[in-house]
Amino acid sequence: MKNIDSYTHLRGESLFVDDIITRQDTLYGLVFDSPKAHGIIKNINFAKAEAVEGVIKIFTYKDIKGENQIGGIIPDEPLLAENEVHFQGQPIAFIVAKTEAIAKKVRALIEIEIEELPVITTAREAKEKGSFISAPRSFNLGNTESAFAKCKYVFTGNAFSNGQEHLYLETQGAYAIPMENGNIKITSSTQGPTSVQRIAAQVLGVAMHKIEVDVIRLGGGFGGKEDQATPWAVMAAVAVQHLKKPVKFVLNRHDDLRMTGKRHPYDSTFKIGLDENLKILAYDVEFLQNSGAAADLSPAIAERTLFHATNSYFIPNVSSTVHSCKTNLPPNTAFRGFGGPQGMFVIESAIALAAHKLGIDKHIIQERNLIREGDEFPYGQIATKVEMENTWHTAIAKFQYEKLEEKVARFNKENPILKKGISLMPITFGISFTNTPMNHARALVHIYQDGSVGVSTGAVEMGQSVNTKILQVAYKTLGISPKKVKLETTNTTRVANTSPTAASATADLNGKAALKACKALKERLTGVASGMLQVNKKAITFKKDKVFVNGETTKLTWEEIVSQAMLERVALSENAHYKTPVIYFDKTKEKGHPFAYHVYGTAITEVTVDCLRGTYEIDAVNIVHDFGKSINLGVDIGQVEGALTQGIGWMTMEEIAYDKNGSLLSNSLSSYKVPDIFAAAKKVSVVPLETKGTKMAIKKSKAVGEPPLMYGIGTYFAIQQAVKAFNAKYNVKFHSPFTPEKVLMSLYEESSEA
Ligand code: MTE
Ligand code: HPA
Ligand code: MOS
Repeated sequence: MKNIDSYTHLRGESLFVDDIITRQDTLYGLVFDSPKAHGIIKNINFAKAEAVEGVIKIFTYKDIKGENQIGGIIPDEPLLAENEVHFQGQPIAFIVAKTEAIAKKVRALIEIEIEELPVITTAREAKEKGSFISAPRSFNLGNTESAFAKCKYVFTGNAFSNGQEHLYLETQGAYAIPMENGNIKITSSTQGPTSVQRIAAQVLGVAMHKIEVDVIRLGGGFGGKEDQATPWAVMAAVAVQHLKKPVKFVLNRHDDLRMTGKRHPYDSTFKIGLDENLKILAYDVEFLQNSGAAADLSPAIAERTLFHATNSYFIPNVSSTVHSCKTNLPPNTAFRGFGGPQGMFVIESAIALAAHKLGIDKHIIQERNLIREGDEFPYGQIATKVEMENTWHTAIAKFQYEKLEEKVARFNKENPILKKGISLMPITFGISFTNTPMNHARALVHIYQDGSVGVSTGAVEMGQSVNTKILQVAYKTLGISPKKVKLETTNTTRVANTSPTAASATADLNGKAALKACKALKERLTGVASGMLQVNKKAITFKKDKVFVNGETTKLTWEEIVSQAMLERVALSENAHYKTPVIYFDKTKEKGHPFAYHVYGTAITEVTVDCLRGTYEIDAVNIVHDFGKSINLGVDIGQVEGALTQGIGWMTMEEIAYDKNGSLLSNSLSSYKVPDIFAAAKKVSVVPLETKGTKMAIKKSKAVGEPPLMYGIGTYFAIQQAVKAFNAKYNVKFHSPFTPEKVLMSLYEESSEA
């Protein structure tokens, strides 16, 4: 089944926040944000701004009736700055005017005086100055100290990975309208409708039931709308509370780029020890996460970095620590992979360094250390149903890796200017929110009296096709045709207390809740059919809107059973709850079984570097991926291709830059580049691994949203190999993105090493 939105997307008919038909009396919001990264607000003068014709009100923290607090994990972030500012782009005031154009004019007339304080922009500097968001966390296994003593080879190094802009096509935005009795309805482009509801209630000083949040769909989220869709929706709600008029607030691209957080840059140091057989015996890593000026989701992201610090390898002795470093940048936030990619880049760097020093290919070390059945992850979970080596060897066989190696060697010998590089990139990614209590979902399914069905869940559709998957689950379970099922908007009044759409777990959690609800409804309707046909319930099945008895078709239709159920006063609605079984995690010991299962895969990347220009092309990425038993291979391969491309962008061309004053230099789409059709891999092949799948996944179809992003990491090492083929004096570095500028420098540098 194609994504159920593809037809309306193509015709431009799908609705997003900005497409909602607004009420005639709608007002428009705009944020006045801090021009300085750190300082004390000495004075703000609104006199000129307030004199503009058409300005309705400029809101500051003083207008907040509840708490001026939006921090999700740690209460350390005001909605609107009070006396101090901590990053450029931090909201200080919310302007509401008759039009967006007026609001812009008003913003330019606000005068502010800030006494500047020292600015920290890097995690390393924050660590040196003792500036942290929260206490460090450490996951340990075995004893690294004694293990290093036994190692034949020990290498130390440093790896840096930069941030990444989400660049969802649809910028952040919300539309809030007053209902009766002080109730407010917010249509928000958020991955977390319940967060918007909860924080809005807290800031407005009202009960949660006064706030209804509705999400139609997102024009992309990628983690950027897990927490950071909230402030804009809440500002609009604050204005509605005061003005009793609808307020629309959609950020323009410049404001969105400047004011929102991104993927966390990580600055990490590592020590890796191997024995004479190239078995990794010990790994020691310290991650410095550049968290930005407030916690946002940083502690949870830091935790997922530790969970993925050893990627697809079994290492018997591990000590890993992460520091969430407080800097004067916008609070960094969730981004596809949620800290996992950052952790995985470091272990891959450590292995690459060891291979380089030993003068061997990286994949030899990788292959010797792949995780196997029964191995223990540093967080205590025992690996089961491991498909790592299966994907690795299948990839090597299917894509004829040895021939590729020969081809590359020959090519590099024959070409003085163009050099090819290849890499193997294994991935192992844990599925479940690492915070166990978040792993639950609900579905509310109505069968209407004409036989059509409406499904509401907590899942937010953001392009990943979760609605398509849930629709498939529903129609197949009920035994009706797909056109009878409608996926409703995500609404806090219909499905309450939801976890955000994140962690790649949405189809599993909400799909399983929908499955449960549909099964219960089918059970009831089977009872009705049994009475109508006078046969045992067990003999009855539903398929394609028809009733079957012992596999034989009958004249009875779905519609007739539903009509009869109405006459018999049988409940045609069901609300089901699902929580992931088995999982737990003990933070006092940093051990447990946090993941329902893992997703595995291997990518082989081939690149060609132009050694005159430093430019490169990604010739091919060949992937063997563990989908379990995919319920929608078209959608799932689309997710692999999209995530891969996003991962390649992170590793190669997407370069976030702030100056030392905390000012975003890559503040437009002319200075921040994401892969376009010319930069994308020329060829991507995705081969589904044949496996039994796991019952923990919806219909054994494994989560797919985030894991393939990390295939993109392979590109860094493929480019590095090509650079090495050209310049024997290249001083291997692990500093992503590997932009053409950096490649060019690497091609012509002379190693500072002896
Ligand atoms: N795919 C599209 N097209 N757009 C998105 O915003 N977000 C990704 C991934 N795939 C995203 C996407 C992220 S960050 C996550 S966590 C998952 O989708 C969330 O959806 P799922 O849990 O249904 O996989
Ligand atoms: N993944 C993604 N988003 C999250 C998580 C997680 O593990 N925990 C909280 N938000
Ligand atoms: Mo995805 S980063 O968990 O929204």
